[in-house]
Amino acid sequence: MNKTIAVIRGDGIGPEIVNEAIKVLDKIAEKYGHTFTYDDVDMGGIAIDKWGDPLPQAMLDKCLAADSVLLGAVGGPKWEGLPGPQRPEKGLLRLRAGMGLYSNLRPAKLWPQLAQASPLKPSIVEKGIDFLVVRELISGIYFGEHKTVEENGEKVATDVMLYAEHEIERIGRIAFETAMKRRKKVTCVDKANVLDTSRLWRAVLHRIKEEYPEVEYGEMFVDNASMQLVKDPSQFDVIVTGNMFGDILSDEASMLTGTIGMIPSSSLGDGTRGMYEPIHGSAPDIAGQNKANPIGTILSAAMMLKYSFGMDAEAAAIEAAVNKALNDGLRTADMMAEGCIPASCSEMGDAIAARL
Ligand code: IPM
Ligand code: MG
Repeated sequence: MNKTIAVIRGDGIGPEIVNEAIKVLDKIAEKYGHTFTYDDVDMGGIAIDKWGDPLPQAMLDKCLAADSVLLGAVGGPKWEGLPGPQRPEKGLLRLRAGMGLYSNLRPAKLWPQLAQASPLKPSIVEKGIDFLVVRELISGIYFGEHKTVEENGEKVATDVMLYAEHEIERIGRIAFETAMKRRKKVTCVDKANVLDTSRLWRAVLHRIKEEYPEVEYGEMFVDNASMQLVKDPSQFDVIVTGNMFGDILSDEASMLTGTIGMIPSSSLGDGTRGMYEPIHGSAPDIAGQNKANPIGTILSAAMMLKYSFGMDAEAAAIEAAVNKALNDGLRTADMMAEGCIPASCSEMGDAIAARL
């Protein structure tokens, strides 16, 4: 197959981790007879520096013209003082919205080799951690109106949280469909004791659940869910939730599995074109030092092969190669443990490519 991949290296450790994912993709192309063509896209801080805009229209157009998008990370202290609409993060939000990517899947799965890196007690970890956060990605409070005004001699800020039924419906369906391929359990996480948007989520999900009698459906307030995640993560299979709650809980979820550096994500809309990125950020403190863990990005590339290109065997091969590298004791700094072999970012990429 011939596929064009828009590549957004972004800021901080972004370029380093994306280069390792490309190394792995090139090896896949060679082994399986595919051609991957990469089209570089500037987004985030680098785009602000070069073009004065975190996502120029021409860059969004390149992403829309590609078969899929691979992203490292955006943002950093250099651009933190900028007003909201000009920040690197805004480029990412506009890209997600511009591509219609409403469905964000963030798997939290414990790799047995990293069990001791989990901050949870062994008695909890032993029960297993394998769940998926299905996060609504292009609506909710991140996309409502943001404004700050002067009132009675002080500043007053508002951020509007808005959900329309169709936005809940489409992400709800993804959650149930995904659960059918897993352990058939969906937990809606919300704040329905306080928020109207959450009550609407529940009403819509109640309608959908009637179509999936095999799926065990439950609901949990987000404060309780954040506690249950550390108390007993084995109770979760698919968590479906809004944009902000999903953002927060997926960071918590990732840490349970040992390191946020291992977690990939997919963002999809109605078609097969998606965007794939690790869930960690640009880690400016270690940028340019060849220290970052590239596995979250490499596994994101594997998700791209599977979900956007239908290359299931190739995706499985990448996961198996990651598994082998971990079995062989290779660890980047974020997951280093006694008796293991320290690997830099590029050494980890080489090791995974070599095991394909
Ligand atoms: C994430 C990030 C982004 C988000 C930021 C960078 C806008 O935290 O992908 O989780 O909040 O969605
Ligand atoms: Mg986040």
